[in-house]
Amino acid sequence: MATFLPSNALIPQTNTPSLIAKDSAANLTLDYLKTINRKGGPIPSEYLEMNLAMNTLAQLHHSGDISNADLESIRTELGEAMTPKTIQGFAYTQPHGYAGDFEIIEKIYKNHVTPEPHLANWDIFFQAHPAAQAVRNRVSFFLDQVWSVKEQPGRKARILNVASGPGRDLHECLNIMGPSGLHFDCVDQDLHAIQHATHLCQKYTSSITFYHQNIFKFTANKTYDLIWSAGLFDYFSDSLFKRIIKRLLPFLEKSGKLVVGNFSDDNPSQDYMEFFKWLLHHRSSKKLQQLAQECGIPSSNIQVQREPEGVNLFLIISGNG
Ligand SMILES: C[S@@+](CC[C@H](N)C(=O)[O-])C[C@H]1O[C@@H](n2cnc3c(N)ncnc32)[C@H](O)[C@@H]1O
Repeated sequence: MATFLPSNALIPQTNTPSLIAKDSAANLTLDYLKTINRKGGPIPSEYLEMNLAMNTLAQLHHSGDISNADLESIRTELGEAMTPKTIQGFAYTQPHGYAGDFEIIEKIYKNHVTPEPHLANWDIFFQAHPAAQAVRNRVSFFLDQVWSVKEQPGRKARILNVASGPGRDLHECLNIMGPSGLHFDCVDQDLHAIQHATHLCQKYTSSITFYHQNIFKFTANKTYDLIWSAGLFDYFSDSLFKRIIKRLLPFLEKSGKLVVGNFSDDNPSQDYMEFFKWLLHHRSSKKLQQLAQECGIPSSNIQVQREPEGVNLFLIISGNG
């Protein structure tokens, strides 16, 4: 195991203005990361220290004691661990040109670990993070939501999946619940995501229609019992968040539900995610309720739930029926 000083030595004290102390915290953290990297990433007994190192870097960065360029050079020091060969490196380098693409989400759902043994511990560390578990927990949350709208008198339940990505949640849902009585319209702006999801869900093509479209331009010619979106709204500023809610509300059945996922502001993986530049608008339950109210939704129609990890919040807006 790498030697590491007492964890609190890395955390800048608020009453320690000395730049030297902060510099040394940055240098100690860098030395620690290099040591961990030389042996192929952290092992479980080092996770606590590794996370403290991430907290330290985030604090130093937020307080302005280390710059973007400093952080960038720390990432560079990690070499292959920050290339698409690892999940953190995949997120950092964004091979699809944007953060949170379908491929990384699919890697998380499938608990993927790189086949390269000298990098595997980085992926195991990533997958052990609460944020990764929260993504996997989306599937059962989605299933519960679909289940709750499944019985519609004399017709199929209509579900709109906004930013459907790899379609893994859809695939699991249809495998478990079967396709009868359900129809999904899926919108995603990335053609590769649509192609991946189409292939994954090929057994169920008659129950799914894919729309290769930007949600800011999407209009529907029907209403939906469930409008679902996970892994999208946390990329939006408050004003874009409200714009899309307002855009989707007219497509909601009176007795329907609009369910929007957003990472919580107490996400314990936030500092680690920032290290590889997976930057989200983390929000509290209160903030999500406030944004919904600002869209003109009465508070009695608003709820916020969370998956078991407590990291992914879900704003649930009921229709007026
Ligand atoms: C993090 S993934 C989430 C996928 C899926 N909802 C899930 O939870 O498994 C985000 C997806 O949003 C899509 N996306 C991002 N911005 C979008 C937009 N403006 N309109 C439609 N899709 C968008 C991306 O192409 C990507 O597939």
